[in-house]
Amino acid sequence: MALVFEGIQKVYPNGFRAVNHLDLEVKDGEFFTLLGPSGCGKTTTLRMIAGLETPSAGKVFIGGRDFTRTHPRDRDVAMVFQSYALYPHMTVREKPGPEPQGPEGRRRRDRATAAGSVAHAGHRAVARQQAGAAFGRPAPAHRARPGR
Ligand SMILES: Nc1ncnc2c1ncn2[C@@H]1O[C@H](COP(=O)(O)OP(=O)(O)OP(=O)(O)O)[C@@H](O)[C@H]1O
Ligand SMILES: [Mg+2]
Repeated sequence: MALVFEGIQKVYPNGFRAVNHLDLEVKDGEFFTLLGPSGCGKTTTLRMIAGLETPSAGKVFIGGRDFTRTHPRDRDVAMVFQSYALYPHMTVREKPGPEPQGPEGRRRRDRATAAGSVAHAGHRAVARQQAGAAFGRPAPAHRARPGR
């Protein structure tokens, strides 16, 4: 479905203008990337597509329909947040929802577990680096081991 932004602006309640008149058209099936310096309004723009923020001015059309003020649950739009800690209490395997059953379910669970352990190792490595840096002694990445 095509996405169209017409004259979109976003002024946050504290008065900060995060997006200033954005006109945008993403065609049906087009792979589109927003690239810009930190703080230029990329996440704000994505949140307005998903309906997590309401534009202060302008209109959002999805598939030709005006979605500017439609609730997120009625948009059929998915958003993956840049922070991996969306559901910090859940494992990678738990996040997608109910697990599939039968042989296919088992195969998927095994793949998800393997992928999750790799991701977990990556996060541990970053967390250790950050913790080390906070205490003035960065931990070497090779010390972080999967499952530890
Ligand atoms: N809820 C808010 N209230 C006030 N200002 C905000 C709010 N959310 C974001 N901002 C500000 O709006 C501007 C755009 O933020 P946004 O998160 O959209 O940037 P970004 O392009 O995604 O940045 P990054 O590359 O760092 O993720 C920033 O200056 C940010 O501080
Ligand atoms: Mg962002």
